[in-house]
Amino acid sequence: MCGIVGFTGRQSAAPVLLEGLKKLEYRGYDSAGIACEQKGTISVSKVSGRIANLCEKTENGRLVPGCSGIGHTRWATHGAPTDINAHPHVSNDGRFSVVHNGIIENYMELRKELTARGYQFQSETDTEVIVHLIEMYYKGNLKDAVMKATSRLEGSYALGIMCSDCPGTLFAVREASPLILGIGVGENFFASDVTALVAYTRNAIYLDDGEFAELTADDMTVFDCTGTPIHKPVSRITWSIEAAEKGGYEHFMLKEIMEQPRAVKSAIAPRIQDDRVHLDDFEFTADELRDIRKIVITACGSAYYAGCAGRYAIEKLCRIPVTVELASELRYNDPQIDEHTLLIVLSQSGETADTIAAMRECQARGAKSLAIVNVVGSTIAKLADHTMYTWAGPEIAVATTKGYTTQLTVLYLFALYAAEKLDLISSESYHKLIDALETLPKMMQQVLDMNPALPKMAKKYNSKGSVFYIGRNTDYAVALEGALKMKEISYIHAEAYAAGELKHGTIALIDEGQPVIALCCNEQIAEKTMNNIIEVKARGAKVLAVARKGNRAILSHADDVIYIPKVEPLFSAAVEIVPLQLLAYYVAKDNGCDIDKPKNLAKSVTVE
Ligand code: G6P
Repeated sequence: MCGIVGFTGRQSAAPVLLEGLKKLEYRGYDSAGIACEQKGTISVSKVSGRIANLCEKTENGRLVPGCSGIGHTRWATHGAPTDINAHPHVSNDGRFSVVHNGIIENYMELRKELTARGYQFQSETDTEVIVHLIEMYYKGNLKDAVMKATSRLEGSYALGIMCSDCPGTLFAVREASPLILGIGVGENFFASDVTALVAYTRNAIYLDDGEFAELTADDMTVFDCTGTPIHKPVSRITWSIEAAEKGGYEHFMLKEIMEQPRAVKSAIAPRIQDDRVHLDDFEFTADELRDIRKIVITACGSAYYAGCAGRYAIEKLCRIPVTVELASELRYNDPQIDEHTLLIVLSQSGETADTIAAMRECQARGAKSLAIVNVVGSTIAKLADHTMYTWAGPEIAVATTKGYTTQLTVLYLFALYAAEKLDLISSESYHKLIDALETLPKMMQQVLDMNPALPKMAKKYNSKGSVFYIGRNTDYAVALEGALKMKEISYIHAEAYAAGELKHGTIALIDEGQPVIALCCNEQIAEKTMNNIIEVKARGAKVLAVARKGNRAILSHADDVIYIPKVEPLFSAAVEIVPLQLLAYYVAKDNGCDIDKPKNLAKSVTVE
């Protein structure tokens, strides 16, 4: 939920830490801080608000001298986002400093114990217990103290630790929160995410839970939980710096919306060869697939909605019952899951705490698991029996766009693959659907090119009250994600409704001028939704419809129409969401919202 970064080398650490924190700001951005060590003295600077405030306070790092240091950007859990609660936290004797991402679940009892022993707490955070524990256990050997202190912790943590007695040395510890080491020449790094490292190095080590590392400018040693040095493979980071930067767009979100045709192509291209779907990363035999009696898709946020939309394609093509469950609910539901269940886990970051917990719960009940994840080497990717990467590239804006569409695309690939293996699809339909999948990027590009009027529509449908999104079947699934986008970035109340349900309640809310976004792309039932448009229009609603090109009838019902190309209905969701992303974007822009970092949200929610 927070971002941490560490650097040790020969140049000033603070500017490197600040640059890294800017890249991690999507993880949390209510306060930030850095600590650097010079000649055995640790200086700390922390401030509430954005990294920009920290840059200003430290004069871009100039006021925090030293060639090694740690940094943190926070998304408050324990204690308000104040200067005092910001990390790094410092021990009472001033010798130790710690940054932390995660949650220490037993911090209350540790706090009591440490207070009784005379340690004074400055902040309300759970993290502060760690720095006092290290001070308590330190008898001249930092590694020993770190091991003893962390053995007392319950919960999740990625830690960066420094000690004024050990100039130039950092410790990095991982337990259930992401942490990556970056190997440079005469300098070394750690960070919560590779985006903070790519500007400096492409060689990375992904720590596993229970492991920790000691870093100096020229050396890096990884230890297992017993303190024994271990060998870890070095991975190449393939993401480019440009991919993690805005590339001329005003916001990451707009850039990522525009990148969708390319991202979806990257998800599809390596998996279609000789006109067939090949899933090297999911090799199931026909018998294994036949053994699956049900599929449970679990995820949070937009990834959950990608599951809602993808479910239709799997059920239709594979004739296997599919349920889509919110991970935060599934984990406590005593789910009916066994070894005949295939669990599909969707996650952009691969680090969402609720999703991980639901996954563990289902795996313990015998489910086989397939993770559809964007971030390589993430926790969910490692936990799953099979992992299919979405290959969307780094997604920085908190509100996901290409993460969602690539997850959906991979679900479509899975559905086609399984249907063929199960012998449930004719060769003609199979090849027709493969062609349709391959044209998805082109269709998405057409939507991006076809709708120059969207900024104008955003002005017309910008609402002080609420916006309703209606649709049926796959259109309804898209309505859910469209409404979420509007809520997340523009702070306008938006509600998605299955169009057929309107008459069972919601229609009471339709008044003169009420904006309604009506999705009518699913040909088989578009006519039914058009009837619902007539009903809301009769009560004064202002209707913006999204429909397939060629649907002229809609022009006489809706006030405005956004057309999408004639995409295969089964895969339509991946295309029709694009104008809704843009609509939310332009509304948020008109309202002066902080689009890439909406208030109270974080991109990667690593706490329950
Ligand atoms: C957060 C983000 C959402 C995202 C959800 C799931 O709530 O703000 O945009 O959909 O987490 O994240 P994941 O990384 O698991 O896809």
